[in-house]
Amino acid sequence: MNVFQPDKLFGIIGHPLGHTMSPLLHNWGFAQQNIRAVYMAWPTQPESIENFMHTFRTLPVSGASVTIPHKISVMDYIDKLTDRAKAIGAVNTLYWRNDQVIGDNTDTAGVSEPLRPHCAQVKKALLIGAGGASRAAIVGLQSLQIEEIHITNRTQSKAGDLAEEFNVSTVDWDNRGDQHYDLIVNSTSLGMSGKLEKINPMILDNQDANTIVYDLVYNPLETVLLREAAARKCKTIHGIEMFLHQGLAQFKIWTGYDLDETAARKLLLSRL
Ligand code: ATR
Repeated sequence: MNVFQPDKLFGIIGHPLGHTMSPLLHNWGFAQQNIRAVYMAWPTQPESIENFMHTFRTLPVSGASVTIPHKISVMDYIDKLTDRAKAIGAVNTLYWRNDQVIGDNTDTAGVSEPLRPHCAQVKKALLIGAGGASRAAIVGLQSLQIEEIHITNRTQSKAGDLAEEFNVSTVDWDNRGDQHYDLIVNSTSLGMSGKLEKINPMILDNQDANTIVYDLVYNPLETVLLREAAARKCKTIHGIEMFLHQGLAQFKIWTGYDLDETAARKLLLSRL
């Protein structure tokens, strides 16, 4: 009997992990590139992060993806943070360099890469939300050299704190639909369970075919925000792009290879 013996081991830590598509993407990628590696799901409770990191250092694990609830707590157990992980204050990727465990964050690529082909036309952007995902979104938007970035959030003080830290401006939650934007990015979880009416009705009032609307949520694929945006002829970008590009960036860090973006997208869409 032929038994597959991988040379390298990767995986994802988080809890819960039931819905993750990361094993699908990375195992497909290894097969595409003829890399003898395997990527597993390692459900890890919050209190087990220290044990996990001990295991990571002891067993021959080459790298890992990190998701909720460990993106911040894992930083206590690594040797070095990349600049972007430092700026975001969270880690989603672990890898080894010169016997050191490095913590990086490719969520910025998940925000910036789908927008890069359009960024020449984006001068003024509105970011909805001021939580953990919003920090990666700001760093991603700033990497595109967008001139004006505004943040709006239900809790104004959190928008204010973030705006001060990243040197961008705020828009009052009540006035969030008053201006035209070239780009609107939703970094709240409001699209996930039909709660979008809370942000939706007015936010699109002044938007048109010159507005790009990017919802970082991909469950469901077509959120109410994107449906309404499409009805107003805005250009829409699905949250699956966020997942895809953060994953492609991880794969590149671990292997040095660029995967076929179109084929990877097709694979993910076929499983949603
Ligand atoms: P994550 O790490 O996924 O970003 P988070 O840090 O809890 O999660 O942030 C959730 C974001 O969604 C916040 O911007 C939150 O707004 P508040 O800061 O006012 O809580 C936003 N959010 C969640 N539920 C909301 C709702 N019902 N209406 C408006 N904003 C909401």
